[in-house]
Amino acid sequence: MHPSPPLIETRLAGRLPDRHGKVRDLYDAGDDLLLVATDRISAFDYVLGSGIPDKGRVLTQLSAFWFGRTADIVANHLLTTDVARYPAPFRDERRALDGRSMLVRKTAPLAIECVARGYLSGSGWKDYCASGMVCGHRLPAGLRESEQLPSPIFTPATKATSGHDENITEQAAAALVGEALLERVKALTLALYERGAAHAASCGIVLADTKFEFGLTPAGDLLLIDEAMTPDSSRYWPRDGYAPGGPQPSFDKQFVRDYLETIRWNKQPPVPALPDDVVLRTRAKYLEAFERLTGRELA
Ligand SMILES: Nc1ncnc2c1ncn2[C@@H]1O[C@H](COP(=O)(O)OP(=O)(O)O)[C@@H](O)[C@H]1O
Ligand SMILES: [Mg+2]
Repeated sequence: MHPSPPLIETRLAGRLPDRHGKVRDLYDAGDDLLLVATDRISAFDYVLGSGIPDKGRVLTQLSAFWFGRTADIVANHLLTTDVARYPAPFRDERRALDGRSMLVRKTAPLAIECVARGYLSGSGWKDYCASGMVCGHRLPAGLRESEQLPSPIFTPATKATSGHDENITEQAAAALVGEALLERVKALTLALYERGAAHAASCGIVLADTKFEFGLTPAGDLLLIDEAMTPDSSRYWPRDGYAPGGPQPSFDKQFVRDYLETIRWNKQPPVPALPDDVVLRTRAKYLEAFERLTGRELA
């Protein structure tokens, strides 16, 4: 089956998004917020010149899956994914919104990214090579790249407005959000990671690490916000072929990374577009991740 063209930008009821991130378009909906996941894909902090059809649907529906499976750990921002229950004018935009949007509670996002790592990879591996530490955690000597850690660690990061998020110590994170709140989000982050990693393991998938965001409602309630344990916010590796001692093939973006290597992109604008076969193979990986983790087909 040939996929429909990717959704790159939204315009709902003649209106442009009030804000957008690299992947999501955000619309104010009274006291709530409408999050629309487009098919944009980013690599090395840049949005690439091609979208991946249905990627936004995967991110939305996988987040909804995890919100449902973790609500006993922490309350989250999801109100509904049923377009018929959205406020006007959004409920009349079923074609654009079905399956790729959620109405959520608007919060003030905390100023840190909450990362849990069960394996040594990415910036964690880089920091470990340089100092033997990750975000102030002293780790055993002699660990290999992609090796499982003795136990999962909480590794907060700043939210960079442009470019790379920067790993910080728990002390530095506490200075940003307060000590009591940091203790809460740390415990929640590790509990959410443990839940996700156990489920992924039962599907033959390693959840190496994942990033959460939390926000405060006007009443002061702490909610899990943004997306939850999607391929964009997580490192998922197939358990088959997992071999510490080097980087692991990424579940979803490996074809993109390989292609960007072959064209020797210097990771600066202008951003490259992707050939059709890279787009289609990447789309298939996103769908495969969704199907394996949820046990069902994308709606
Ligand atoms: N419930 C919420 N309240 C306020 N902001 C939110 C909420 N959920 C998500 N966000 C924000 O919406 C944006 C999502 O867009 P995204 O494309 O993921 O951005 P980014 O490029 O920063 O990753 C993020 O800035 C995130 O902090
Ligand atoms: Mg994001």
